[in-house]
Amino acid sequence: MSYENILFEIHDGVGVLTFNRPKVLNALNPQTLDEVADVISRAAREDAIRVLVLTGAGDKAFVAGADINEFLKFNTLSARYFAEKGQGIFFEIEQLPKPVIACVNGFALGGGCELAMACDFIYASEKARFGQPEINLGIIPGFGGTQRILRLIGRARAKELCMSGEMIDARQAKEIGLVAKVFPADQLFDETMKAARMLASKSPAGLRSIKKVIDCGSDIDLRSGCALEAEAFGVLFGTEDMREGVSAFLEKRKPQFKGSLTK
Ligand code: COA
Repeated sequence: MSYENILFEIHDGVGVLTFNRPKVLNALNPQTLDEVADVISRAAREDAIRVLVLTGAGDKAFVAGADINEFLKFNTLSARYFAEKGQGIFFEIEQLPKPVIACVNGFALGGGCELAMACDFIYASEKARFGQPEINLGIIPGFGGTQRILRLIGRARAKELCMSGEMIDARQAKEIGLVAKVFPADQLFDETMKAARMLASKSPAGLRSIKKVIDCGSDIDLRSGCALEAEAFGVLFGTEDMREGVSAFLEKRKPQFKGSLTK
């Protein structure tokens, strides 16, 4: 598939997807969502992609939301289909058995904030702004935002953000647990790539297990979550990467994890 609305490159095991619709602050239209879905399915198939980074072109926006130009064309059914399409792709990001980092360089509003929340964690520039402003259009978040923000920051703050439609800055977003780290704008991409390369050097099966157990665990009770954890812990003792990690520690050398998720 050739891409018109995004750029995609692979560097040292890290796939970098850049939203590239600067005239609309990288807003998501249906075709952009299709292109994202294509990258996610490539990332699932290709061992050469060990970590994904999502970012926005330019210095103003990560993604300023769903493309509002499409909205007046929608009726009840097509709007629901659009929401389900976005939700489906964001679930694919969560289900991708590899780390996905949102590198938020500017506005992450509406669908952009929802997209960032579907990633494993968010690194943000000091210039980043987050919000769910859909209420100002007379609608609500449709790409899973009400549900993920609830799980990430709790009921009261989730309601305050979605009901007010207000934007918060990166520092506030970090305070409430939405953002993992904040960097000066000119350092954000390099710092994100440093973290992504570090993750690309770890055991793929281990990373997959962490992602799965934590994501499943956030929806189930503690005992069931711990049962899943014990299962995954046991499975990893059957991997070459576990032998390599433990041997490297005992031999006082750096481990070389070569595990594959596809072979
Ligand atoms: N969909 C479509 N176009 C969008 C967009 C979106 N979500 N967000 C921004 N744009 C467009 C603007 O219409 C404008 O186009 P124009 O140059 O043809 O007029 C261009 O991007 C630049 O945006 P502008 O509003 O001029 O920049 P700003 O710095 O004054 O404001 C924002 C930036 C992000 C605060 C403002 O654009 C905004 O509120 N966008 C909508 C955010 C939103 O509601 N997202 C949720 C959608 S469900």
